Amino acid sequence: MSRAIKVAPSLLAADYGRLTEEVQAITAAGADYLHLDVMDGHFVPNISFGADIIKALRPASDITFDVHLMISPVDAYIEGFVEAGAAIISAHVEAGPHLDRTLQLIRSFGVKAGVALNPSTPISSLECVLDRIDLVCLMSVNPGFGGQKFIPNTVNKVRRLRELLGDRPVEIEIDGGVTKETAGALIEAGADVLVAGTAVFRQPDYADAIEAIRNA
Ligand code: DX5
Ligand code: ZN
Repeated sequence: MSRAIKVAPSLLAADYGRLTEEVQAITAAGADYLHLDVMDGHFVPNISFGADIIKALRPASDITFDVHLMISPVDAYIEGFVEAGAAIISAHVEAGPHLDRTLQLIRSFGVKAGVALNPSTPISSLECVLDRIDLVCLMSVNPGFGGQKFIPNTVNKVRRLRELLGDRPVEIEIDGGVTKETAGALIEAGADVLVAGTAVFRQPDYADAIEAIRNA
């Protein structure tokens, strides 16, 4: 497979007492994106961190900040994440009734627009916004927590999404339960970006962990 696979370690699994060092270490280890999971305790049953933390980490590295918003409502907070240094901002299909507006708003700030789908949300929910997106984040666990078990049906979703996207320049990102064991089938089905929290930040050698996923 000659396609370049990107690995996006999720800061959710990092050591919160040493966030700056963790961002520097993951950059040095060859991560492609840093995945930042923002949770509000409302859209998902957990609270993580917000734009101020992300902004404080921005000077630590020039890595692409890939911000995954598990929040509802979304629109009022987007500008803050742009100012914090996000390069990609993903909002959930399920987060509100006006996805098209949210995507236009994200792109209006000159950053990439992503859409995230919960495991139970069908691919068809993207049909009307295909030309407004730069990335689709398919959740392969129910969002809210790191370290959950991969939902195998995601592999079929990747395959169908690849067909639906055609030749549009849209990245397919998979988020949740990605390990060197689950990554191979996802890559084969057409995934471009693999998010991994536990499988990178909870390993002794970050560079080895990233390579093991990329080459799965
Ligand atoms: C889940 C988050 C994921 C999570 C992945 O709500 O969106 O990004 O951190 O963690 P692992 O890789 O441990 O499943
Ligand atoms: Zn995520």
